[in-house]
Amino acid sequence: MYVYDEYDRQILNERVAQFRHQTDRALAGELAEDEFLPLRLQNGLYVQRLAPMLRIAIPYGMLRANQLRRLARISRDYDKGYAHFTTRQNVQFNWPAVADVPDILAELAEVEMHANQTSGNCIRNTTTDQFAGVQTEELTDPRPYCELIRQWSTYHPEFAFLPRKFKIAVNASEGTDRAAVQVHDIGLELVNNEAGEFGFRVYVGGGLGRTPVVGPVIREFLPELDLLTYLEAILRVYNRYGRRDNKFKARIKILVKAMTPDVFAEKVEAEWAHIKDSPTRLTREAVDNVKRFFTEPDYQSLDDNPDGLQTQRAESKAFDSWVKRNVSKHKKPGYCIATLTLKKTGVPPGDVSDRQLEQLADLTEQYSFGELRVTHQQNVVLADVRQDQLFELWQTMRPMGFATANLGTLTDIICCPGGDYCALANAKSIPVAEAIQTRFDDMDYVYDLGDIDLNISGCMNACGHHHVGNIGVLGVDKKGQEFYQISLGGSSQRDASLGKILGPSFAREDMPQVIEKIIDVFVDNRTEEETFLDTYRRIGIDPFKERVYA
Ligand code: HEM
Ligand code: SF4
Repeated sequence: MYVYDEYDRQILNERVAQFRHQTDRALAGELAEDEFLPLRLQNGLYVQRLAPMLRIAIPYGMLRANQLRRLARISRDYDKGYAHFTTRQNVQFNWPAVADVPDILAELAEVEMHANQTSGNCIRNTTTDQFAGVQTEELTDPRPYCELIRQWSTYHPEFAFLPRKFKIAVNASEGTDRAAVQVHDIGLELVNNEAGEFGFRVYVGGGLGRTPVVGPVIREFLPELDLLTYLEAILRVYNRYGRRDNKFKARIKILVKAMTPDVFAEKVEAEWAHIKDSPTRLTREAVDNVKRFFTEPDYQSLDDNPDGLQTQRAESKAFDSWVKRNVSKHKKPGYCIATLTLKKTGVPPGDVSDRQLEQLADLTEQYSFGELRVTHQQNVVLADVRQDQLFELWQTMRPMGFATANLGTLTDIICCPGGDYCALANAKSIPVAEAIQTRFDDMDYVYDLGDIDLNISGCMNACGHHHVGNIGVLGVDKKGQEFYQISLGGSSQRDASLGKILGPSFAREDMPQVIEKIIDVFVDNRTEEETFLDTYRRIGIDPFKERVYA
């Protein structure tokens, strides 16, 4: 993980002081609300339905134990004692006072954290695979590239006022996409070309929200060291041609669609030709310098499948289920990756209390070299757990609420805050998630259903990624009443696809039953080994429609 140097610290402290001054002036009435707005947004501060909301970046999803403890303290001292992990590897506080935000930012700066560019029309936090650097099938660790993008894009004067917000995601694994790169403004896929050289496949113009789009590829292979100049060329074309007259048409996805991906790519190439060899071009030294921060922790030399583990799994069905569902293969023998789902029924997905943040800090120190990762599915990961300590970890965290063994299942729901906190919501989403989790409380049945992504958003902004849920739920407003529209067949995986709308929407109380009917159609039609998405893709939407609207 990147560690700040003196310059980083100084820049951040100066930024905090600057924002303190801006906030003081706003509170004293010397800055009008519309003058303060872009300033506060660039510092992660929204003003929401019930209170302000502060969004803090977690670069490439990584947190150290001291940072977790600091988040815990902030949530206790300035908020209501909890924090919310989002679908973009950020963390949000929902109840800070505007006057306290400069103090919060100062507290964050002390532990090398910030809220820079987590809102506003600029380049947002670059996200990546939560298993980066430890999984078995990646070409190389994507995190150094995320860090290079962060250093290049932070305070970039040319890209501080884009037509709209801008999101970049990086994925490095040929087989799996855990970063949903095809639904980002720019998605980067680390690849080797035919000559065995290393670089990026570049997707541009994906995104969710009002107009969901799976991003097209505009360049099959970009050499590694050209990364930043090429990104600069894309951003320039967007900054120049992107629509500023209509907020709903301002995202790069609209521009790429309107121009066509080919024409957009040509414009990028033409721009790139000017700046390809500019000082922004990466050097081997610059890349290697950042890579030094992502070296391996001090792994011990261990064997896979220690004897005790088999016995523990045989003796505890609950532990065995958790291992099957929530534990993944690690590149080092004797280690594994443990995902702790924040999806206990009755707790809003992604929410953690101050106490839990501290418990997570303790767990990372005890079991995973003091580091944690957050995922875009609103879960957290201990990436370097010794297999011979897995049972102890599971026992320790069970009473903390982290051992729910439902990763990737129907009850591991992605869910935005919806009408409970968000000013833009058409409907609540948290109670829908809870009602579905409650209805599907038989874990054997849930396991039998296999992998299913169920994603819920409270409005068309799609913070809950409903378009790419195998089952998507969208809050809609019908004459002042809260209703829910369902879509089926979305995926954010390698074979990314957008869900298709099932039909007329439903009242909240009907939702669990509707989901049950959808699941019944799957169960009746699936062949052995098929996932929900496989079955849907084979049989289409009609059988689901017939059953649900019968
Ligand atoms: C509570 C305050 C929030 C506000 C006011 C807000 C606002 C918005 C808006 C206006 C959009 C639409 C952007 C567009 O289509 O151009 C959006 C999209 C999005 N937001 Fe939020 N959001 C909030 C919270 C969250 C949370 C809690 C999450 C994660 C759980 C999140 C993650 C996202 C994601 C992933 C998108 C998808 C956008 C895309 O296609 O780029 N947001 N949000
Ligand atoms: S999807 Fe809508 S309701 Fe949910 S957080 Fe985003 S803006 Fe708010």
